[in-house]
Amino acid sequence: MHAFLPAEGCADPLADELRREGVQVLPASGHEPFLLAETLPASGYAAFARQTLPDARALSGCSINGWADAMIEALLSHLGDDDPWHLHLWPAYGEGRAGQHRCELIRSAFLERLKKRRRLRLRHEQASLTPTTALLQAALTAPDAGLASLTPAVRRRELRALVSDFIAGDIPHAEDKSAPSRAFAKVIEAELRLGRRIERGQTCVDLGAAPGSWTYVAIQRGAHAIAVDRSPLRDDLMRHPRLQFHQGDAFKFRPEQAVDWLICDIIAAPQRSIDLLLEWLREGRMRQFIVTLKFKGDDEYALLDQLKAACPPLCTDFRLTRLCANKNEVTAFGARRF
Ligand SMILES: C[S@@+](CC[C@H](N)C(=O)[O-])C[C@H]1O[C@@H](n2cnc3c(N)ncnc32)[C@H](O)[C@@H]1O
Repeated sequence: MHAFLPAEGCADPLADELRREGVQVLPASGHEPFLLAETLPASGYAAFARQTLPDARALSGCSINGWADAMIEALLSHLGDDDPWHLHLWPAYGEGRAGQHRCELIRSAFLERLKKRRRLRLRHEQASLTPTTALLQAALTAPDAGLASLTPAVRRRELRALVSDFIAGDIPHAEDKSAPSRAFAKVIEAELRLGRRIERGQTCVDLGAAPGSWTYVAIQRGAHAIAVDRSPLRDDLMRHPRLQFHQGDAFKFRPEQAVDWLICDIIAAPQRSIDLLLEWLREGRMRQFIVTLKFKGDDEYALLDQLKAACPPLCTDFRLTRLCANKNEVTAFGARRF
């Protein structure tokens, strides 16, 4: 069984998205907010899921030691002696400190019991995830119930668009009071999820750039920005020597040569932004990209299925997700195959 944690307020869009993939969502999981299903989406994408627990075991009636034993069992049943692993343990119920406190007690019991087993593999808990680390996830949906899942490193790579490296798939909004708008948190979050960032000396085309917070990130990193908008950006950015500004229709802009990044946050109908992304990918105009798709209401989410089919063959890494910093938006980001 597999468990999907919907992005905030996205349980229905996620259930619809999974159904479109032929994934049967079990009627009442008893482990809300998670949706449970027997299969994973064949496309490898669930844009409205914040986190996925593949091959999850549902637990109920667990004492603190019961939780610790179930987590140890998940490790022992999947890992070899030398396999490094990392634990994400979190409360997916209630507000406030009670759930956190319970998780701390479970973590202590788990580590204590591991120590007693004196197994070689116990030494391989890692402080953070690396490409060779297995991910043990334990999510409490009530103090005595929840889900446990172990994803070996190879599987984590295969499922990287579904299984987030971040606990509960959550990334706090980046804050920078000097940025022209809060929209800058989207570009930072997409970079973190992708594990790639705009670097010094690179060139970024920013479509729909005003007032300029995505360009601001690029410039702060030492990159060159080519910003396109009908309106100018904030004055200080307009004067910046590494900014080239084009006033006009972003859909008509073509770079002279392939650029390192396409970043695009144009307010437009989602089909237009999808077509723009596909055209840039097919024409090989960028190496990496972050593109926001903006929705009005909830009746056009099925348009995303076009990207799930068309982008993976064109990319070495492709992601499609409702970011924590997104409103009624989904962000497509990744790296093009060259
Ligand atoms: C959400 S704002 C972008 C915010 C920007 N990413 C930031 O962080 O400051 C969307 C922008 O798209 C621009 N826009 C919409 N349609 C456009 C078009 N066809 N050509 C150029 N700009 C367009 C709007 O002028 C607006 O500045």
